[in-house]
Amino acid sequence: MREQVSVLYTEEQIARRVAELGEEIGAALAGREICVLGLMKGSLVFLADLIRRIPLDLTVHLVRVTSQREQAAGRILTEIVYSTSVPLEGKDVLLVDDIVDTGITLSYLMAHIHEHAPASLRVCALVDKPEARKIDVHPDWSAFTLREAMADRFLVGYGLDWMERFRGLPFLGTIPRGR
Ligand code: IMP
Ligand code: MG
Repeated sequence: MREQVSVLYTEEQIARRVAELGEEIGAALAGREICVLGLMKGSLVFLADLIRRIPLDLTVHLVRVTSQREQAAGRILTEIVYSTSVPLEGKDVLLVDDIVDTGITLSYLMAHIHEHAPASLRVCALVDKPEARKIDVHPDWSAFTLREAMADRFLVGYGLDWMERFRGLPFLGTIPRGR
């Protein structure tokens, strides 16, 4: 199966972007201790690399949004699960997401986090697909932005899955859609 994946961004390209993002985030939030919330499972690999490149004191927590895709009436987001009960009130929160596609997952999660009155909320995504957006929401940072030309390809690797497969690939790759 691995041999059907085309490389989109190599390990080296990803590492370079992650280092840049770490510095930018460090500069933007200088002097603060940040609370990093990693969105499971897709952001797992990105999260592990990114937190080692942010030159700030930080804590790390995991959050999971269970969503049911491909439902006749559109997607239904069912639940948000925190790995621990994370007190977000007054915290500078950095949400780390894998892909912002329609934006439905992100906007849902952001609304939920805002209810807990954080001091600030920023979002860092691995991949932004702005043309696929159904809800007007934008990450503060993204490692890569994919334009229209890639719309028919499905991204895998570096934590991203297709049916739970390919998460372990060290690069970001694509497979044809609708296989
Ligand atoms: P949204 O709510 O449509 O923005 O959904 C974003 C979520 O869909 C991401 O967190 C991914 O888990 C998943 N997703 C969207 N596009 C892709 C892709 O090309 N490859 C892997 N997962 C994707
Ligand atoms: Mg996902």
